[in-house]
Amino acid sequence: MTAPVSTAGNSAASRDKAFVLHPYTNLDAHETQGPMIIERGEGIRVFDDGGRDYIEGMASLWCVSLGWGEERLVQAATKQMRQLSTYHIFGHKSHEPGIDLAEKLIGLAPVPMSKVFFANSGSEANDTAIKLIWYYNNALGRPEKKKILSRQRAYHGVTVATASLTGLPNNHRDFDLPIARIIHGDCPHHYRNALEGESEEAFATRLAEQLEALILAEGPDTVAAMFAEPVMGAGGVVVPPATYFAKIQPVLKKYDILLVADEVICGFGRTGNFWGSQTVGMQPDILTCAKQLSSGYLPISAVVVTDAIYRACVDESRKIGTFGHGYTYSAHPVAAAVALETLNIYEERDIVGHVRSVAPAFQSRLKALAEHPLVGEARGIGLIGALELVADKATKAPFDPPGRAGALVNGLAQDNGLIVRAMGDSIALCPPLVISEAEIHETFDRLTKALDAAVSVLRG
Ligand SMILES: Cc1ncc(COP(=O)(O)O)c(C=O)c1O
Repeated sequence: MTAPVSTAGNSAASRDKAFVLHPYTNLDAHETQGPMIIERGEGIRVFDDGGRDYIEGMASLWCVSLGWGEERLVQAATKQMRQLSTYHIFGHKSHEPGIDLAEKLIGLAPVPMSKVFFANSGSEANDTAIKLIWYYNNALGRPEKKKILSRQRAYHGVTVATASLTGLPNNHRDFDLPIARIIHGDCPHHYRNALEGESEEAFATRLAEQLEALILAEGPDTVAAMFAEPVMGAGGVVVPPATYFAKIQPVLKKYDILLVADEVICGFGRTGNFWGSQTVGMQPDILTCAKQLSSGYLPISAVVVTDAIYRACVDESRKIGTFGHGYTYSAHPVAAAVALETLNIYEERDIVGHVRSVAPAFQSRLKALAEHPLVGEARGIGLIGALELVADKATKAPFDPPGRAGALVNGLAQDNGLIVRAMGDSIALCPPLVISEAEIHETFDRLTKALDAAVSVLRG
């Protein structure tokens, strides 16, 4: 049967409804509501097709660190496009942008690392990390050691394997996921999951004990690795409790379980250090990154591995005859050139120093909203944060139905010229890293108006 194609009007909005299948969208609502069409961007703002400006409080999808219109990235792409517009690095071929970027990432890594594998998205990077972990344990003659630990509310992507790692019900439901050998442990969210009166440190101790119990129940010889975002992003911006990684890493070491730091959001300054791993004290065996690697201007991601993991890949490829993994666009030269220029700009403009200088204003405006009648918790670090909306501040009771208050504030923020992201009833903020202090105040002034307007609807 051929689906009917709308012929009503020739506008971009009507053609969108006729032809585009949107990611992460209520497709049924979209048929009525249609799209919001963004035409251009400048600095921390984007403009819709009516010319209206919005502060992009989410840096697109947690990625446009340098804001819109960074001419040096345009130039880097144009120059590389002219010189070698595309090429691959399969079968011993290579090119300088890929080599330079790999060398640069090894130099920047938070712990001694050996090699970089390139992919095009965070999902592909994490999917690759899973395959490397399985390959590694086969190389070491441990075919049973294959289970991967993740956490409730984690976000690691949407491929079959990485959606399985993701600990959010909507990424599993009716997609027949998760696949086997993926296990979800506890979410380290103190506000929601700590016991009455439990300190952050005591909560972290309990989480480490529960992790050990889970590993023992599964059988340590069957558990290969644990994935963790330094600060959880799409699960609602969860900053781990004090001492969390200091307590769980010895448990992983004890049972010879690898740690993968998913730096797809936290990498490149977001939390006030170059890597989120440095902020929370992680010493990963594998680090994955994407998004701010190219300021989101072109798709590129990286998997950075220790020498032990690389050596296992060498052994396997000697045995099999090749390392049978790679994407057509692994280390795409134009994306690599843009990423390299992005990293140069971070250094030249001391992006981490800038984040540290404006983060106090961001965090103090964010935390001040904890006093707002709709907000149960205001949480964050560096230039990332979230407000959790609750029906009752004293009991932490959520709104019913879940997600309605978040969607309402999301819409009211947009009406007030601010794009945020509602994750259930948590409202996330993750602005471009180049945001100024004045722009931070403008962002929170708009958000406060939206929250105030929501009070009368929700409590009216
Ligand atoms: C922590 C984390 N890992 C992985 C991903 C997946 O990245 P992508 O959407 O580029 O596949 C995301 C996306 O938001 C993410 O936040």
